[in-house]
Amino acid sequence: MRHFVIVGVLVILVAGLTYIGLDSMGLMPIAASAQAIPIDWMWNWQVVAISFLFSLIIVPMIYSMIVFRRRKGDTTDAEHIEGNTNLEIAWTVLPLFLVLTFAYMGAFSLGEMRRADPNAMIIKVSGQQWTWTFEYPETGVVSSELHLPLNRQVLLMMESKDVIHSFWVPEFRVKQDVVPGRITEYRITPSLVGTYMVRCAEICGTSHAYMESKVIVDDVAIFDAWMVEQAELAAIKTPEGMGKQLVTANGCLGCHSITSVSLATAPTWFGLYGAEVPLADGTTVISDDAYIAESILAPKAKEVAGYSPTIMPAFTLTDEEIANIIAYMKTLK
Ligand code: CUA
Repeated sequence: MRHFVIVGVLVILVAGLTYIGLDSMGLMPIAASAQAIPIDWMWNWQVVAISFLFSLIIVPMIYSMIVFRRRKGDTTDAEHIEGNTNLEIAWTVLPLFLVLTFAYMGAFSLGEMRRADPNAMIIKVSGQQWTWTFEYPETGVVSSELHLPLNRQVLLMMESKDVIHSFWVPEFRVKQDVVPGRITEYRITPSLVGTYMVRCAEICGTSHAYMESKVIVDDVAIFDAWMVEQAELAAIKTPEGMGKQLVTANGCLGCHSITSVSLATAPTWFGLYGAEVPLADGTTVISDDAYIAESILAPKAKEVAGYSPTIMPAFTLTDEEIANIIAYMKTLK
């Protein structure tokens, strides 16, 4: 009996210390959505259960190894135990109860996460290798950054243009696959102003690791101002403006930078128009209208040195669209 009391006290003590240790490690990033509350609540109880079960196994094991170790000269056998019905009932019923409790908590949290607000703002999300595009159907605005208003539920209607991707903002907690040929839904109510990052959580090709976009949560007034500004920009129908929209809508900037520094995935567009481009076969080409058009329609025709093999997919765009994109590229210098 004395051993049971000592082990019992030690189990509770070690469980408490394990929980405090795990909790202070900061395993979760900051919570920035209403949906994070039920998830973090459940996660916390999971950590409690994990700490207790860890202690329940480790403490009696180490205690037995030390206290009941074989002494020098002891050649007797241990006591032979045939079975213990009460113990067997206990270790069947208690875990069953624990598992059922967590099943209920999981179902409850899932229900909370899917709770639909009829006033939710719909945003169309498109994933493609290796970029995200966001479209606001109410205003027609297309953006490569996801801007969200604070404390209003948004419903993301997501679809992939090619392979399976996965939409994941760790601070929002919820994650959802984005698949071709089918629309998947993702509800979120941002609860904290800030700039976050959506990253792709499904291996989708060579540049999967770079498939991320900014997610900006703002007060409603700032969000509305951004939306008005974007809608005004979209209304200006200059070739450069339309080219910029095409570039955003087609996700070009997921791989191509527009600053003097290239991303790892593709050459920058900054100062590209008219420049001499070194090719993988050792020759060079002048970056003129014909070369750029060819690079959009058949990217593998002329592989750029340092970016071979070419990972860019071929895009089907009209002559006019390509001319607009080139007009936009000419402004990047
Ligand atoms: Cu898209 Cu990984």
